[in-house]
Amino acid sequence: LADEEVSEDELLADPVEKVMEVGGTRHPAIRLPAELFTPERANSEGMDLDDAAVLTDIAAKVAAMPAMPAGIDVDVATAIAAAEAAYPSWSATPVEERADCLERLADLLEQHRAQLMAIAVQEAKKTIPDALAEVREAVDFCRYYAARARHDIQPVELPGPTGERNVLRYEGRGVWAAIAPWNFPLAIFLGQVVAAVVTGNTVVAKPAPQTPDIACYSINLARQAGIPAGAIQIVTGGGDVGQALLGDRRIVGTVFTGSVPTAKAIARNLLADDVRPLVPLIAETGGLNAMFVDSTALSEQVVRDVVISGFQSAGQRCSALRLLLLQEEIAEHTIDMLVGAMRELVVGDPANPANDIGPVIDKAAYDRLMAYRQSVADRIIFEVPVPAKGLYVPPTLVRLDSLDDLNTEWFGPIVHVATWPAGKLEETIAAVNAKGFGLTMGLHSRIARVSEAVEATARVGNLYINRSMIGAVVGSQPFGGEGLSGTGPKAGGPNYLHRFCAERTTSIDT
Ligand code: NAD
Ligand code: ALA
Repeated sequence: LADEEVSEDELLADPVEKVMEVGGTRHPAIRLPAELFTPERANSEGMDLDDAAVLTDIAAKVAAMPAMPAGIDVDVATAIAAAEAAYPSWSATPVEERADCLERLADLLEQHRAQLMAIAVQEAKKTIPDALAEVREAVDFCRYYAARARHDIQPVELPGPTGERNVLRYEGRGVWAAIAPWNFPLAIFLGQVVAAVVTGNTVVAKPAPQTPDIACYSINLARQAGIPAGAIQIVTGGGDVGQALLGDRRIVGTVFTGSVPTAKAIARNLLADDVRPLVPLIAETGGLNAMFVDSTALSEQVVRDVVISGFQSAGQRCSALRLLLLQEEIAEHTIDMLVGAMRELVVGDPANPANDIGPVIDKAAYDRLMAYRQSVADRIIFEVPVPAKGLYVPPTLVRLDSLDDLNTEWFGPIVHVATWPAGKLEETIAAVNAKGFGLTMGLHSRIARVSEAVEATARVGNLYINRSMIGAVVGSQPFGGEGLSGTGPKAGGPNYLHRFCAERTTSIDT
């Protein structure tokens, strides 16, 4: 498609709204605009990150990070028993009251924003803008699910013959297990928890072992917001604790976000017990996310969006760009510009607002990524210099000779680049689809017909056209994948809450 003649009209009907004003077209040392790493759009109020006092306050809080609140973490059996005991009265609490609790929690999160950001920087190694985005997204989840619950968790009168009344009700199921990753240690962790409780369930939540503190801090706030202590239990630890939790027959549903291998292990665990009833599993997992660029794309915008999508958060987002697919004719030029932009990135201490990119989460991730980089050393096109000490993985551009050479999600700042010949866009998309993941995909093209063709061909949960591929906004861009990337329903979307409910129909002969 992309090598077809493009009329002037089609180019003028350019869907791209913002064209970056950056100098030069070839071999430029592009100065990235100041707003490059500002947090994504969110529904909650902002915070002025240009205000020195705000940053000083956060830095002070990072230095004096609060310890994990005492008495919140219990063993699995005790936690399940407490959640089970709390279930009858919580599930009988009217949905409006449960939604009120979520709204109060959103207010408390905003009031404690600086503390939460400080923990996110310290514990999850988030940059300050990423930490702010984290809190905003958590606030958005609380407000969005509160509003949806008021609307969605209501009895529905259904038709029937005269004299018959049919009513569908959405009710809690019992005790859910919520298992979260470290890369959104507040937003995803709390999003799972509040979805479970607002629908009338109680929950035992297990944060990732790397990030228990922000989870515990937020659960203390949930309790202050009026959610009874029994209704949200928290257990900390790694895969063994998760396994023990899910192995318990009292768990009636599981909401999980993490890697594909863990999702599969969980599915096996849930099915291993022949006596146990079938229980729902909501799994949101990883991706092998590609961005396609054709010859009509605006190079400056492509470069900006590749840098954001591939390297922001040190590439530690499930949505992040892993595979940049350039139409052959523009490949050399685009790579030159991209390298120019990468030269401007500053990697270092995430608590220092001058730095764009921080370290990766832990030594195991660092070792894994560095070993992979070593294995592709002869194909590295460019790497950003990093501080000598610390878990800093250089943002890296790697040439990919064949799509067959990439089948794994490398969860860090590594972008692979390959090319596709003009006229072979749909075939190349089919090859990416065939890898089995289906989380995010990007396209840069100024031809409406190309966008339509990609929309029809892509098998992903979230397709981004002429923009970056990260930072889905709750309520606007419901997030989640298909295939290996997840079961759905999408977090932050209109179909999420019903999955947590038992659907019960009563038919009465009046
Ligand atoms: P992970 O799979 O290693 O761990 C996730 C959680 O599962 C942790 O709490 C962990 O302790 C727990 N766990 C591990 N083994 C378990 C078992 N056998 N039973 C029960 N629980 C177990 O993932 P991670 O490293 O924490 O997070 C990164 C991964 O998460 C990446 O693959 C990323 O793509 C994915 N992710 C997906 C989304 C999404 O919305 N699709 C969002 C964020 C992260
Ligand atoms: N929701 C997160 C994003 O879109 C994963 O980047």
